[in-house]
Amino acid sequence: MDGITKRANEIPPFIVMDVLERAHELEREGRHIIHLQIGEPDFPTPACICDAACEAIRAGKTHYTHSLGIIELREAISAHYFEKYAVKIDPDRILVTSGTSPALFLIFAALLEGGDEIIMSDPHYPCYPNFAAFLGARPVPIRAEEAEGFQLQPEEIKKKLGPKTRAILINSPSNPTGNLLSAERIKEIAALGLPVISDEIYHGLVYGEQEHSILEFTDNAFVLNGFSKLYAMTGWRLGYLIAPPHAVRPLQKMQQNFYISAGSVSQWAGVAALTKAGADVERMKSIYNERRRYMIQRVRELGFGLAVEPAGAFYLLANARHLAANSYELAFEILEKAGVGVSPGIDFGQNAEGYLRFSYANSIENIREGMDRIEAFLRQR
Ligand SMILES: Cc1ncc(COP(=O)(O)O)c(C=O)c1O
Repeated sequence: MDGITKRANEIPPFIVMDVLERAHELEREGRHIIHLQIGEPDFPTPACICDAACEAIRAGKTHYTHSLGIIELREAISAHYFEKYAVKIDPDRILVTSGTSPALFLIFAALLEGGDEIIMSDPHYPCYPNFAAFLGARPVPIRAEEAEGFQLQPEEIKKKLGPKTRAILINSPSNPTGNLLSAERIKEIAALGLPVISDEIYHGLVYGEQEHSILEFTDNAFVLNGFSKLYAMTGWRLGYLIAPPHAVRPLQKMQQNFYISAGSVSQWAGVAALTKAGADVERMKSIYNERRRYMIQRVRELGFGLAVEPAGAFYLLANARHLAANSYELAFEILEKAGVGVSPGIDFGQNAEGYLRFSYANSIENIREGMDRIEAFLRQR
């Protein structure tokens, strides 16, 4: 009717942005808001990465690059996967993108026709079903239960497999739960024989447990990864995918048409991230871990449910069903009355309704203040 396609009109918004936008309005009115809804590191990008970007600019590395990405970065990614997971990946199977989000879109576009099905856990990162639906495919959610640490159960996946199933999507450590899939489960999922899309963007942000790449278990896999979270590089827009050889050329052709290449300066920054920023990552990780432990303790003391302690990313998904059935209303009530931004569970799927996602990508002082405010709010409620 309005000349805008149905798919563009109907793609759902990122609900957490509603919380953020209201929080900004309140801030403009003079309120002080603690942001625990955020999904990005509060740290600045490490200096060695920024220096490499400045050098690249000065050296005139400011042009389009090879559509797969500069070979130096693809080799560094390949070396990283070998060192960390003992998997050998030809750099020609790697495609560098402007963030993980375009990589996700390219993979979905390569695998899904209209009417196809893609299996994913519920809760999940909000964009997964939205991208699938945008392409005319059907996201098939698998309920992952709090009592089981929101683990995606291979048995449950089997029940949903059908002639139209094209791929299974996993994300460990997970946004929004912060939980990891065990090696056994990943192995069982790989053994189902369908292509597995593994979003490994939170790899490296793991506290005490061990994360596993899908490539340790099968080559019938598409890996998504990026620099936004581990290296505090959200604004640099740098990510990548690793694909089976037969899929590279179609993915590359889409990249050439849609995006040409990822940003050259960001790619040189990415090389420095992988080769020089190890100590910075360790420092940030140990600070996240301290915040994680503190937040888990406070969330439980305040009466929220958290059956399994999250061991990765910088989120925890707390059960707030004793407070309200509608997480959207509860998140806004907490924002308006306590001045704390949290993400409503419903943003992450029907099965996360009644939950709130707390992010510890904020200073320990702010987390303490945020928890104190929620405590006071709950006492008065
Ligand atoms: C699970 C997951 N995948 C992908 C992304 C996209 O990250 P980016 O496009 O910044 O690399 C995010 C961002 O929050 C995420 O949480």
